[in-house]
Amino acid sequence: MAEMKTTADQVKKTYSTQSENLKVIRKRLNRPLTLTEKVFYGHLIDPENQNLTRGKSFLLLQPDRVAMQDATAQMALLQFMLTGREESAVPATTHCDHLIRGREGEAHDMSTALDENKEVYDFLSSVSSRYGIGFWKPGAGIIHQVILENYAFPGGLMIGTDSHTPNAGGLSMAACGVGGADACDVMAGLPWEVKNPGITGVKLTGKLNSWCSPKDVIINLIGELTVKGGTNRVMEYFGEGCDTISCTGKATITNMGAELGATCSLFPYDKNMDIYLRATGRADLADLAAANKENLLADGEVYSKPEDYYDQIIEINLSELEPHLTGPHSPDAAVTISEIRKKAEEGEWPLEVSAALIGSCTNSSYEDLAKAANLAEQAVKAGLKMKVPFFISPGSNVVKDTTERDGILEILQKAGGTVLANACGPCIGQWDRQGIEMGKKNTIVNSFNRNFRARNDGNKATLSFIGGPEMVTMIAFTGNLDFNPSTDSIKTPDGGEFRFSAPQAPSLPPKGFITDTSGFQMPEGKGVEVIVRETSDRLQLLKPFVPFKPEELKDMYVLCKAKGKCTTDHISPAGKWLKYRGHLENISGNMLTGATNYFTGEIGTGTNLLTGEKNIAFSDTAAGYRDAGHPWIIIGDDNYGEGSSREHAAMSPRFMGGAAVIAKSFARIHETNLKKQGILALTFADSNDYDCIEEQDRITLEGLDSFAPGKQLKAVVIHSDGSKDDMLLNHTYNDEQIVWYKAGSALNALRDANG
Ligand code: F3S
Repeated sequence: MAEMKTTADQVKKTYSTQSENLKVIRKRLNRPLTLTEKVFYGHLIDPENQNLTRGKSFLLLQPDRVAMQDATAQMALLQFMLTGREESAVPATTHCDHLIRGREGEAHDMSTALDENKEVYDFLSSVSSRYGIGFWKPGAGIIHQVILENYAFPGGLMIGTDSHTPNAGGLSMAACGVGGADACDVMAGLPWEVKNPGITGVKLTGKLNSWCSPKDVIINLIGELTVKGGTNRVMEYFGEGCDTISCTGKATITNMGAELGATCSLFPYDKNMDIYLRATGRADLADLAAANKENLLADGEVYSKPEDYYDQIIEINLSELEPHLTGPHSPDAAVTISEIRKKAEEGEWPLEVSAALIGSCTNSSYEDLAKAANLAEQAVKAGLKMKVPFFISPGSNVVKDTTERDGILEILQKAGGTVLANACGPCIGQWDRQGIEMGKKNTIVNSFNRNFRARNDGNKATLSFIGGPEMVTMIAFTGNLDFNPSTDSIKTPDGGEFRFSAPQAPSLPPKGFITDTSGFQMPEGKGVEVIVRETSDRLQLLKPFVPFKPEELKDMYVLCKAKGKCTTDHISPAGKWLKYRGHLENISGNMLTGATNYFTGEIGTGTNLLTGEKNIAFSDTAAGYRDAGHPWIIIGDDNYGEGSSREHAAMSPRFMGGAAVIAKSFARIHETNLKKQGILALTFADSNDYDCIEEQDRITLEGLDSFAPGKQLKAVVIHSDGSKDDMLLNHTYNDEQIVWYKAGSALNALRDANG
């Protein structure tokens, strides 16, 4: 089950089911199919009877694989232990990448991480081995890069407990970010349930000019569609421009489809994918894909009349794209490099850069590092050195060993770069940043994917801008955010003027990849003892949540009315809290610490209505309400829970006594996570009602006795002056999700079903 690479037998099985399913679907729909439909419907559990209404119905699917990273795997596997299953029902892997802090370089950082995280690694290694799950050790690589190199295959479907799982779409795999509870269900043998996605067709024409990279394609698209533009959608790329982008370049684009909130992103199967599969030791899968090609592309009529088959079409002429940066604080704040100076003046952003970082799961391919090194080499030859600290996070051991052999890392190091561990590090706040004062406004630039406030270095005053690794490398030499390589030059030490030439590098290593299997641990099964210390402050075995009775949801306090953006990073921040991802009680101390209080503008605090105290951390107030037997509510703005799949953002509120979140709208993954944990996820039928909620309000929920799909609930809101407002609430619960709610959580429902 848990091999080091996806096997030909697994792929054959998928392709055979896909073709059987598609025969049924073609009969039912009697029209050409998009690639998204071929892959999703090819994984349906019941193709005959499944409701196929796009954007409305929920699909029951059989994923081919589950992947988990170490921060989210802890809770996913703690939950799996509660299911009573003996082994994972589908191939699954755990990857140790998030807990390694970047500071001085690989050797130092790895040794610190192995020491600091020993008990978590011991737990993950033992629980994975016990339940038939492959385990990728710390330092083996970042989950998405390891998946692309070993497990992704065209036409496959996987779920991963990380929001950038869609990275595998670069190899035409439908790969979707989910919470640990979804992973737990699928490993327990249940189908994966997802809203039948709408489809945005993204037509790529032309060819990227020399200063642009795949990163500019996705930054441009996010800028256009915004962070909500892909919600409940698949971004399906097509057009001749696709063939001009390498497989790993496509993965950069699909990786950041997560920033659109998309279910996943898909490129049609092409020659570059074939080459990548062969280069990574999977010629057998390349042959199978070639033989199954008709199911790995949309039908021809879709490409000739896309407007008839996609819900929305965006066209991008690659030849006309300009290099972009995006930021600060939101990945959709895209700006072209020729506009950046003006924007910086308006936004009062320092143009002087204080650090530059490349790599991460998004941009750590051989091609990315080779192009960065090519630019660095040009500058070093001209006598230049990097002006700011420059860090490189290779995506995997394979990339690191290969780029080391080919002299790529050495060039970057000689130019002033520091090679960090093959891990997330600064991309997820695991950056022990030196030489910068907390609270000091400063600008950094990186080739990562997310730039929410404080995400990289824990400093809320840091302005983080994202760009392609080539732009980031050039900026490291100039020290200025507004450097434009097509017009600007740099003064050399001998008084000359240096201009970069467009980077030249192969997309794959001419001498082949170095593969190293030492980072993988095969599972052993039943005899293995799972290691959790009772006194641990990092791991805690779970207890099932107790369901709420309808009569308990009366006169509830509003714990927090969140104003504006409230992402999962705001609800359950990472950084120093990553440490407690396997300890629900301890991590709940971070609950809502990044949320902006609508009433006061403060961040992370509000009034405790039981005691009347002000400026109290939301988590402390929540604990007080819970211990006094008062369920409470969160009020959310638009796209509440945007960002990541972390179910802690739902589990902590549940653990602390939260009964419901009522928002203007939800991000898809978070909405599902709330449902799974037994918290009501509701939206205002009239979004203006959001404005009517006041700090001292008490809210009663009505209609739960007859909770049913499509039937509205009601909030009766009593204001402090005694006046009352009735607000209708919508929800997207289906029958099964209502069973979860009534059981107290999806996991309880699963245990109940097992008897
Ligand atoms: Fe790691 Fe990529 Fe997430 S580097 S933190 S998996 S965005």
